[in-house]
Amino acid sequence: MTDFLRLAEDIAREAGDMLLAKRPTMSREIETKSSPTDVVTTLDKASEALIRERILAARPDDRILGEEQGEAPGEGDVRWIVDPIDGTVNFLYGLPDWAVSIAVEVAGKVVAGVVNVPQRGEVYTAALGEGSWLGAERLRCNTGVPLSQALVATGFGYAKARRESQGEVVAKVLPRVRDIRRGGSCAIDICSLAAGRVDAYYERGVNQWDFAAAGLVATESGARLGGLHGRPVSSEFALCAAPGLFEELHDLLASLDPLRGA
Ligand code: IPD
Ligand code: CA
Ligand code: CA
Repeated sequence: MTDFLRLAEDIAREAGDMLLAKRPTMSREIETKSSPTDVVTTLDKASEALIRERILAARPDDRILGEEQGEAPGEGDVRWIVDPIDGTVNFLYGLPDWAVSIAVEVAGKVVAGVVNVPQRGEVYTAALGEGSWLGAERLRCNTGVPLSQALVATGFGYAKARRESQGEVVAKVLPRVRDIRRGGSCAIDICSLAAGRVDAYYERGVNQWDFAAAGLVATESGARLGGLHGRPVSSEFALCAAPGLFEELHDLLASLDPLRGA
């Protein structure tokens, strides 16, 4: 497991350095994906290509799921889950909260995760059963926070209709909590929770590459990660908070029917 983590960290750092170096001149080369605001830059693709090349050079038989190139069918037990830039809109605008996210899954379980936030010089790491860290600092999420005092991070999808229902839900959450944060990177939101910088996170429609690495960082910091109604975290719904707050926020969200509409 330590070998996986070391390799994932080396690769995430190399991709982050490349992105930092090329961002000033190349970040505005964009195409759109699922909607006019869902962008992919030349550098999202370059980052994923670099990450794939490095993984396959070290471990040619492993499978890789990456946001930009998807996943080729394969049999192996080991699967790498990669978001080459999480927070592409921040990256495009020169905001610091974008990350390279790499997780390693063995037999369907995430065992190692790295979220590198190059512009902040912060690297989050986690290994299953061994804890999570921000650099050398061991992470512990905030505990004992009631919903009414909770700082809650969330995000929104790219499709108009989805955003409309997400907006309705967040309008009902806002008066019940300390405040809401929309940072622009699911991976950083969940790592921030592990570091005690927010108390909770929820979002509908995020993908495995968004939460795989950060999810392990959070659970290894003591947080609970899941979906609605006892279901596991998935692209349907992601909810993360310390036990206690998790249930309180879950029940509020469940009462708002957050999966309705598109
Ligand atoms: C997005 C970010 C954002 C979240 C979106 C994701 P991308 O990923 O994580 O915070 O709200 O749902 O799609 O497009 O920047 O890789
Ligand atoms: Ca993402
Ligand atoms: Ca991305």
